[in-house]
Amino acid sequence: MTDLTNKRLATRFVHAGTVPDPSTGAIMTPIYQTSTYVQEAPGVNKGYEYARSQNPTRFALESAFATIENGQYGLAFSSGVAATDAVLKLLSVGDEVIAAHDMYGGTYRLFTQVFARFGIVFKFVDTTDPSKVAEAITPNTKLIWIETPTNPLMNITDIQAVATIANDAHVLLCVDNTFATPFLQLPLNEGAHIVMHSATKYLGGHSDVIQGCLVMNDKALRDRIYFIQKSSGAIPGPQDCFLVLRGLKTLHVRMERHCENGAAVAHFLRNHPAVVKVWWCGFEDHPGYAVARKQMKDFGGMLSFELKDNSHSNTMRVLAATKVFALAESLGGVESLINHPATMTHASIPREERIKNGLSDSLIRLSVGIESIEDLLADLDEAITGVSN
Ligand SMILES: Cc1ncc(COP(=O)(O)O)c(C=O)c1O
Repeated sequence: MTDLTNKRLATRFVHAGTVPDPSTGAIMTPIYQTSTYVQEAPGVNKGYEYARSQNPTRFALESAFATIENGQYGLAFSSGVAATDAVLKLLSVGDEVIAAHDMYGGTYRLFTQVFARFGIVFKFVDTTDPSKVAEAITPNTKLIWIETPTNPLMNITDIQAVATIANDAHVLLCVDNTFATPFLQLPLNEGAHIVMHSATKYLGGHSDVIQGCLVMNDKALRDRIYFIQKSSGAIPGPQDCFLVLRGLKTLHVRMERHCENGAAVAHFLRNHPAVVKVWWCGFEDHPGYAVARKQMKDFGGMLSFELKDNSHSNTMRVLAATKVFALAESLGGVESLINHPATMTHASIPREERIKNGLSDSLIRLSVGIESIEDLLADLDEAITGVSN
């Protein structure tokens, strides 16, 4: 493998995890589509016994995940929520989790409707104020879970500040880095213990795979989660690992364009007479701007907005009117998507809870893709004004 220790980001993304195949020299790691491995004698094998536990394509990807997040160990899962599920399975009855009050609806659902039934206690706090995290810690707190920027309100949490609180209290800090990606933000460098991704999104990057990952530095923690991974079995197949491994090679190039287009769309919408508010962490008056500047290289391609006429009918009209932005769940692919969090990605959060945290029924979320910016702006303008240019 190319020694990537002192290499710059772009070189790391292109080369992470891949070694020329030892038998043929193939530059891309082959898809080892096998469930088992022939052994010379019982217990005498090449380090591969059964594909739920070991697969070379998956191992290549896991090594790539570790490299790009600047961590020691990577683990791949069959989805982002499967990766989250594995972290939660480190806990026992009575353990407490402090979680961000604004987060992906599926994570909230997993916490409140699955793990709460097994006696894990969840406290949702505004993690953008680290003192609220400190106040919520008790002797039973075992895990702090944050997203930054958050889905969909683009709230920013100071990872370093929360990591200090977590370390002082001997509590694990896991950061969902899906929105930022390692191109923009490296939570392990800021003191987090685990980085989690929905690799379905920017890491895969082409809307063709569901996958999750975890990266960490602590070997004992890695071994505990690996045990959970092979015991629970939520592993990705080799074909999916290949697709994500391929996606990673262009992450930096795609992210540059996502950021460029994201900024252009954010400013365009903010200046649009029919738009009342835009949520994007690159605005200087965003409450998390200073922290975002400190811990992120740029501001990403995700943003949300609300129309001045925020009636249900007008919001629905605009959601159905875009032609380049496709109306769909998910994010982070090369193509632009438009989404209605209240009825789509965040429908599993009770309405009162959503509204209390600022997620209104009229919020529209955009995942800005890498198409020509002129087409993206014209598409939004036509949809919002109802007039073809
Ligand atoms: C921020 C965030 N975390 C986690 C997930 C869950 O990932 P997956 O859909 O791959 O299970 C999502 C999915 O949308 C997400 O947006």
